[in-house]
Amino acid sequence: MRIDIISVKPELLTGPFDHSIIARAKEKGLLEIYVHNLRDYGIGKHKVIDDYQYGGGAGMVMMCGPLDDIITDLKCERKYSDIIYLTPDGIQYNQGVANHLSLGTNIMMICGHYKGIDERIREMHVTKEISIGDYVLSGGELAAAVMADSIGRLLPGVLGDETSALFDSHQDGLLAPPVYTRPEDFKGNIVPSILLSGNNKAIDDWRNDQAEKRTEKRRPDMM
Ligand code: ADE
Repeated sequence: MRIDIISVKPELLTGPFDHSIIARAKEKGLLEIYVHNLRDYGIGKHKVIDDYQYGGGAGMVMMCGPLDDIITDLKCERKYSDIIYLTPDGIQYNQGVANHLSLGTNIMMICGHYKGIDERIREMHVTKEISIGDYVLSGGELAAAVMADSIGRLLPGVLGDETSALFDSHQDGLLAPPVYTRPEDFKGNIVPSILLSGNNKAIDDWRNDQAEKRTEKRRPDMM
């Protein structure tokens, strides 16, 4: 999969993809992430990318011209399964959306800033408008990083054990059960004995039961 991210603050995206699972996915050639500086398409000597909003009001709007140019350039090079605009007024991102997007081949993400992007770009180019939660970030970059990470780890071959993503919280509609590692007794807090029983069926049942209890308590809306 290839992910192209359009940003006016590309420096915000230099770190998140260079470590751990996503870095390994890139090394294995399973995932490519390119961050494009919208400023390179800015207008005039000052590379302007935003302007005052029609109708008045505080805050600048990202202009059509530079965005249309960069999106069109990228579209000329390859076909995109989705062109996503990260925005707090988008549909809510969740594991289901991540699963769906991970089936694509090329994804473009547009990070908004200021008051957002001119509505006409949304109408002309954007196929999905996504929010990562009901709060407002300073820009779409951190949301793009969250999405690229959660999509990247789902790509076949990225996680060592292919099945492990299947047992993540949310993947089966439940939160994940508690996990333990050595020592068996830590300052008097002991590992549930069932996990030491060697009885795989009983362990599976216990985990399922714990996942249900945790979900019921913390996220009754998911039940
Ligand atoms: N940009 C600003 N806030 C955002 C959010 N909650 N989700 C996605 N993009 C955003």
